[in-house]
Amino acid sequence: MADTNQSIHGEWSSRFAFILAATGSAVGLGNIWKFPYITGENGGGAFVIVYLICVAAIGIPIMIAETMMGRRGRQSPINTLKSLTEEAGGHTHWHYLGWLGVIAGFLILSYYSVIAGWSMAYVIKAFTGSFSGESATQISSMFSDLQASPLQQTFWHTIFMVATMAVVARGVKGGLEKAVRFLMPGLFILLMLLVAYAMTTGAYLQGLEFLFKPDFSELTAASVLTAMGHAFFTLSLGMGAIMVYGSYLPKNISIAKTAIMIAGADTLVALLAGIAIFPIVFSNGLEAGSGPGLIFETLPIAFGSMTGGGLFGILFFVLLVFAALSSAISLIEPAVAWCVEHYEVERKQACIGMGFVTWLLGMGTVFSFNEWSDVTIFGANFFEALDYLTANLMLPLGGLFIALFAGRIMLAKDSKDELDLGNDTLFDVWRFLVSYVAPAAVFIVFLNVLGVFGIFS
Ligand code: PFF
Repeated sequence: MADTNQSIHGEWSSRFAFILAATGSAVGLGNIWKFPYITGENGGGAFVIVYLICVAAIGIPIMIAETMMGRRGRQSPINTLKSLTEEAGGHTHWHYLGWLGVIAGFLILSYYSVIAGWSMAYVIKAFTGSFSGESATQISSMFSDLQASPLQQTFWHTIFMVATMAVVARGVKGGLEKAVRFLMPGLFILLMLLVAYAMTTGAYLQGLEFLFKPDFSELTAASVLTAMGHAFFTLSLGMGAIMVYGSYLPKNISIAKTAIMIAGADTLVALLAGIAIFPIVFSNGLEAGSGPGLIFETLPIAFGSMTGGGLFGILFFVLLVFAALSSAISLIEPAVAWCVEHYEVERKQACIGMGFVTWLLGMGTVFSFNEWSDVTIFGANFFEALDYLTANLMLPLGGLFIALFAGRIMLAKDSKDELDLGNDTLFDVWRFLVSYVAPAAVFIVFLNVLGVFGIFS
């Protein structure tokens, strides 16, 4: 088995580097763009509680499982699953789980890049002072104009994809690690600043109440699925991103502690984003459930009216772009690593091929906001359908099988050796969570959406 070897793709230089990279993968548009708007669409507090429970009971155990599997397999998720299956004497079909992840990564990155492109467009708007003194309505129409323009969106989507592939092409230490070192602290400081601004809006308490006061009558089966899907999305789980990062992890590092830290940081950033955004929404009479444009229609109001807002606006959107970049690179890394292993091509070549296919698919999302806005699948446009398919179905399904693999297929002695928790009870608790609790929870939420139980429907 490859557990004492290094990955052919390289290795993180330290535990801290892994934490930064994995946190970089987890913290991204999911926290700052998606969490607030889906919370707004799903009624607030009760949704947030379900999401937090999913992070703790399903997300953290699966994050431990993915990291552990990656470190033991030391290859791209597809090949890691192959060799771990061999080691455990399981059925060869398990490597399709790696494929599910690679495809999910492609699909997510294709629309992720378009939204990151919006953030890039907003850096320029902040730079040219477009927000200053504008009303909520004017800021809102600024966003609709961007959405209506395929040309502008294509431009930014292209730049973001090129940037992503350029970082990935540089490899583990040179690219991925360097890019995330300064991002996380900067983003955190700016979010705190926005929270401070939110306190001055006069709707701070209303915002907090919306976010934290649960009204379970607002909860539907669909919103429980969205909360669970988002727990996977925000922690980058269910598709092999954390697994491939785990494969670059040196041997002597405690996986469990690290996973808890990463999930904690990710959750904190999402909650801070919510605490900053909802007071701005309510104090300006905006709609909490207005959808994917929420942060682009609210935060510029804050930047337009606070002292020094011009500068903070630029900094904020720059950091958001970087946070998106450090997530984007992890979305495509499993595919690139597999290409390098399978076709024995250079990283660079793999990046060009993968990047182009993803870019092309992303054009579907660009058009879904304008030319193709009438084209719908089950009532959803192209972007909404992709988002639903990946976040609500593919990631939880991938997570369910990863949990089963770690808990039921891998031999207990192997996972115990790899995790090295130093405490048998803790190991048993983790194994129970991944073998039974996480798979059962995902399964029940799926069945519930199909109307089998009728809970919260
Ligand atoms: N976790 C990222 C975010 O919250 O923006 C998105 C993401 C990255 C999802 C990597 C899945 C993934 F594998």
